[in-house]
Amino acid sequence: MADTLTITDNRTGKQYDIPIKDGAIRATDLKQIKNGTEDTGLITYDPAFMSTASCRSRITFIDGDKGILEYRGYPIEQLAEHSTYLETAYLILFGELPTDAQLKEWTKQIMLHTMLHENIKKLMEGFQYDAHPMGVFLSTVGAFSTFYPDAKQIFDEQSRKKQIHRLIAKVPTIAAYAFRHSIGRPYVYPDNDLSFAGNFLNMLFKMTELKYQVNPVLERALEILFILHADHEQNCSTSAMRGIGSSHVDPYSAMAGAAAALYGPLHGGANEAVLRMLNEIGSVQNIPGFIKRVKAGEGRLMGFGHRVYKSYDPRAKIIKRTADQVFAVTGRNPLLDIALELERIALEDEYFVSRKLYPNVDFYSGLIYQAMGFPVTMFPVLFAIPRTSGWIAQWEEMLLDPEQKIARPRQLYIGAKRREYVALEKRS
Ligand SMILES: CC(C)(COP(=O)(O)OP(=O)(O)OC[C@H]1O[C@@H](n2cnc3c(N)ncnc32)[C@H](O)[C@@H]1OP(=O)(O)O)[C@@H](O)C(=O)NCCC(=O)NCCS
Repeated sequence: MADTLTITDNRTGKQYDIPIKDGAIRATDLKQIKNGTEDTGLITYDPAFMSTASCRSRITFIDGDKGILEYRGYPIEQLAEHSTYLETAYLILFGELPTDAQLKEWTKQIMLHTMLHENIKKLMEGFQYDAHPMGVFLSTVGAFSTFYPDAKQIFDEQSRKKQIHRLIAKVPTIAAYAFRHSIGRPYVYPDNDLSFAGNFLNMLFKMTELKYQVNPVLERALEILFILHADHEQNCSTSAMRGIGSSHVDPYSAMAGAAAALYGPLHGGANEAVLRMLNEIGSVQNIPGFIKRVKAGEGRLMGFGHRVYKSYDPRAKIIKRTADQVFAVTGRNPLLDIALELERIALEDEYFVSRKLYPNVDFYSGLIYQAMGFPVTMFPVLFAIPRTSGWIAQWEEMLLDPEQKIARPRQLYIGAKRREYVALEKRS
């Protein structure tokens, strides 16, 4: 017998058998449950989508209790150990690891598209000198839709492929230009002899030397960070990408919205908040007092807790290891001692243990980025670069899914009942 959920409606005494498939019931199956002919049927109420699946996906698997993250079935630990960001992006987008020939062609196509249109440069020059790089980033991604009107052909596979190449290739260049703009340095053109991460470092940090010398440890660390951030199933920004994309707008406009969602301190801004918090704590002696205030509800321990992970975020473990390699090159970030002690105390404290609050990906990533020379304002941009592959893979999956339509949630209206308009002079 098929799995079903039997519901008895106490209002009418009727019974309903609702099919259960893949561990879920369809919310629309509840529509048949009506209390009288006027009733349009039962709906579900789920603010923040705590318990609602909005799609079927084949891209990323997370088991939050066990701390498992897999892209297309491959464990994140193995990808971080053996893969590169571009190979992982290919896997996320096309479902399989590329062959040698496919990887070469993919890399060639991406590196062919790294340059920005000169008018984009002019557009970026219009921003104030102190413009937040993430604001610059998301505006520029949105502006791309005017440069590539062919992107409107979202059901043309070749056109989609072209936009995919452009987006993955150009986001590091936008990010680097936004950074150089904020510090008043001239833009550096891409060097396509370098790797994806190496070229990014070149565009960020090259000075007057003819050829930028990439530090292999920092290059690999950046690759690992990019792999870890490439996708994370239906998080806030990915849901924004799918939601906006469901209106059939071009991918650049949809991605500007996704990047805006990532800008928020509860999402991509969390590692910036971690550094601010570590600076505020100031020294190891101040940690007990800080923990006491968090437990009293006066603020949060940033970089701890996750909507999905109720154990150690697997990405945080890999980042912690990477931090040691980076610090061996750059020198130790003095905030690391505070972070390590904070983690030690929190992992033993009943408040955090009982709420299953463990370090998440943002707890250590900010320390690495800071040691590599990035200002905190660049942190969400560094997140957006690799997440681009996840966003567009999820966007394409949504577009090709025959079950999807324009996203349009319902509401429970609890406002005023119908009333008559009152003339201004009669209002008290
Ligand atoms: C990520 C986050 C938004 C998830 O939130 P959520 O799933 O909605 O969890 P809730 O806000 O319902 O929190 C559940 C409980 O844990 C507490 N809690 C959650 N995160 C906490 C944190 N970082 N510090 C202290 N307490 C925290 C809440 O106060 C709540 O306690 P209560 O049950 O006594 O009210 C949240 O953990 C958070 O704000 N973390 C800090 C920001 C951060 O690091 N974000 C990056 C995520 S990758």
